[in-house]
Amino acid sequence: MCRFPQVSYMLLCTLLSTTVFNSYSDEQAPEKPRVCIVGTGYVGLPTAGILSSFGNHVACVDVLSEKIAQINNGRLPIFEPGLEQLLQEPIKSGRLTFSTDVLSHMQRASIIVIAVGTPMSKNGAADLRAIDAVVEDLAKAITSYKIICIKSTVPVGTCAHVRDALIAKGINKDLFDIVSNPEFLREGTAVQDSLNPDRIIIGGNPRATTIIKSLYQPLIDKGSAYLITSLETSELIKYASNAMLATRITFINEMARLCDKVGANVLDVAAGMGMDKRIGTAFLVPGPGFGGSCFPKDTKALAYIMKNKKIGATLINAIYRSNVAHKKAILKQIDKLIGDFTDKKVALLGLAFKANTDDIRDSFAIDAIAYLLAHNAHVSAYDPQGMDNMRTLFPQVSYGPTLEAAVQGADLIVIITEWNEFKTLNVANLAQACRTKRLLDLRNIIDRATAEQNGFTYIGMGVCPVKKSAKMIH
Ligand code: UDX
Repeated sequence: MCRFPQVSYMLLCTLLSTTVFNSYSDEQAPEKPRVCIVGTGYVGLPTAGILSSFGNHVACVDVLSEKIAQINNGRLPIFEPGLEQLLQEPIKSGRLTFSTDVLSHMQRASIIVIAVGTPMSKNGAADLRAIDAVVEDLAKAITSYKIICIKSTVPVGTCAHVRDALIAKGINKDLFDIVSNPEFLREGTAVQDSLNPDRIIIGGNPRATTIIKSLYQPLIDKGSAYLITSLETSELIKYASNAMLATRITFINEMARLCDKVGANVLDVAAGMGMDKRIGTAFLVPGPGFGGSCFPKDTKALAYIMKNKKIGATLINAIYRSNVAHKKAILKQIDKLIGDFTDKKVALLGLAFKANTDDIRDSFAIDAIAYLLAHNAHVSAYDPQGMDNMRTLFPQVSYGPTLEAAVQGADLIVIITEWNEFKTLNVANLAQACRTKRLLDLRNIIDRATAEQNGFTYIGMGVCPVKKSAKMIH
């Protein structure tokens, strides 16, 4: 793989490191590289936090001036536990700055990290317009050697496409290298995940991957594994990982629905499966279907990539479809529970796609609200962080302001997100507040016995009580 003989390669790395790390003749040379991160979202901000906390000079840039103004006024545009604390010291010390001046920060940086969104487009492919816009800026900014490190989840071949696009725009191919460095952090635990990654994947040529690896040296020293590979392999590792995790969730959700029919308990099924070391228990927790900014769009995008390469994406397509079917099955269950929605109030507890985030993208709550409103139900909702985001989509829902207010007079409570504060709910108080005591617990966080003692008709996710007359299944 290495195109350079060992000795000259090492020499090259030393020379390049020197160029990269000491290219500031007009000011005191920083000990660490100057990094420009493009994008101040769920990936860009934690990345900025960890890289600046390692002593690097980091400028985080975004074209959205309101976002930058908000951050510079001391308010983060997203809710992510521990993020504010992580950013505090680097901001105070001046190592971490936020700006809309994309070009000048790109010009000053030796490493440019791309962390812009790649949402799903109408045909299922990843929408790469934000990446293309960054390429336009890069073409103006590259006048000295830079490493372009792509962290955004991008289809296989995108890194090569960015390289070719820059060359086509007249940039000398020796003035830059492209590195693929996918991000694996989860929302809600982004800081912990960034500080303790299971692995660091770096794709690209030896001179650039060596430098990017050195950025992560503090994590590698602490024991994080790393893999140096090609651009294409690195890009695919991200999609393959997300598709595998989505497969596990889809699998256990299908098992949960089967458990409901046969009187089995999916939590015990998952525990029993997980005792097999080859299987393990991770990502086998049933719920209202996977949501968020990654699994739905990345499974779709992977299927699209495979279709383009004329490979039947039977499994990958099935994962996406099964997730949609799972969400529909839950809506049908709500329908069955309520019957006629006229004058009925349904209270949704949780709007975010998972706990500890304000992100509502592809959350089951969106499907639920759309369905309930279409059936003329009164919908109330409470979420510790997600209400502002959901209000922009569905202003007609009554939001909180407290959990108690949201459940008052409800004919059905649906628990959508596994927030800690829902796990410790006072079920007796909940029962008193309801008009009709029905509880659909899509995260299995309320104890069935307690709910039933308080008069609730309780329905969990794949945890129905064992039927005494369960039939033998052949
Ligand atoms: C995911 C990947 O985990 C992460 O590596 C990648 O960088 C981005 O995509 P994220 O979407 O933030 O992270 O959250 P995750 O914890 O993976 O949950 C995704 C969805 O799956 C959520 O809707 C969650 O509720 C659901 N889920 C997860 C389950 O239903 N069951 C599980 O066992 C795990």
